Amino acid sequence: MKIAFVGKGGSGKTTLSALFIRHLAAAGSPVIAVDADINQHLGPALGLSDDQAERMPSLGAHLPLIKDYLRGGNPLIRSGEEMIKTTPPGRGSRLLRIVEENPVYAACARPVALDEGSVRLLATGAFTEDDLGVACYHSKVGAVELLLNHLVDGPDEYFVTDMTAGSDSFASGLFTRFDLTFLVAEPTRKGVSVYRQYKEYAQDFGVRLRVVGNKVEGPDDLAFLRREVGDDLLTAFGHSDWVRRLERGEEPPLRSLEPANRAVLEQLRAAADEAYGLRDPHRYTEQAVHFHLRNAESWGNSKVGIDLATQVDPEFVLGAEGAEAARV
Ligand SMILES: Nc1ncnc2c1ncn2[C@@H]1O[C@H](COP(=O)(O)OP(=O)(O)OP(=O)(O)O)[C@@H](O)[C@H]1O
Ligand SMILES: [Mg+2]
Repeated sequence: MKIAFVGKGGSGKTTLSALFIRHLAAAGSPVIAVDADINQHLGPALGLSDDQAERMPSLGAHLPLIKDYLRGGNPLIRSGEEMIKTTPPGRGSRLLRIVEENPVYAACARPVALDEGSVRLLATGAFTEDDLGVACYHSKVGAVELLLNHLVDGPDEYFVTDMTAGSDSFASGLFTRFDLTFLVAEPTRKGVSVYRQYKEYAQDFGVRLRVVGNKVEGPDDLAFLRREVGDDLLTAFGHSDWVRRLERGEEPPLRSLEPANRAVLEQLRAAADEAYGLRDPHRYTEQAVHFHLRNAESWGNSKVGIDLATQVDPEFVLGAEGAEAARV
């Protein structure tokens, strides 16, 4: 399933996504971890050294390879140059699976060994505020949208993205590409305001959004979040001395995480698993097409110089049957 962590800067997106990823990996589930945050910190949060993190290949720099691979033999997409970040898959496209070897993973993914289990890490590459909100076909987060739109993921397989709650994901459609979005919020007015904004965009698209409180210290904090976000509040992660130890450069094993906080991670997994059962491949595909047409009209057609609506394969639905139809 496809999971995003979003939230205000500094709310704890990276901390909680890294812990969630470790929790899943410890149970033996296949996980692809994706760093799509402005500040690329997921690698180090998963235990990469600074040197290893610096050597991570970036998805942004491999867009031509990604597009060429995913395009495969799809006759509606004549070249990688004609593919924009929202170009949907169709018959002949190559789809991705969480557990497989392919040229995209070979070029961009790196294995990360954890104290329990291991995951594959992908990273968009560092971007600046200037990259945000830019409707650009070589946008760095655009690579993540392409991967999600071509991903056939089974139950008990996870694609977990540490992401910024910026306007970029709203402009493209990226924010609708997940089965479940965890909005990390500290019990503050600012933390909650990001939730409100996200909720406003999300509600028209049936995006499943749950709030995960972070650095929640006591009943007043919890009551505040409950009052502000209501039933969207899934659970809350407390202030963690274990996380502080991590910050001091220690490497505490996952099993020594505070039991209450470990239980929160399990709640996140249960919510994710539930969301997987509720997803609708038709709606997912329709929304991909919707955002593609919107991007095509607003900038894509003039940028690429063709009518990008012709890339839509009306017979194609991404999902179990779609996967078969698309096999070449
Ligand atoms: N539950 C917690 N207990 C203690 N410290 C925490 C907790 N959650 C996060 N922190 C600390 O808060 C800081 C910000 O966390 P983190 O980097 O995960 O946030 P972020 O939302 O990813 O930030 P950015 O927007 O910069 O990417 C870090 O120093 C982290 O160690
Ligand atoms: Mg972060």
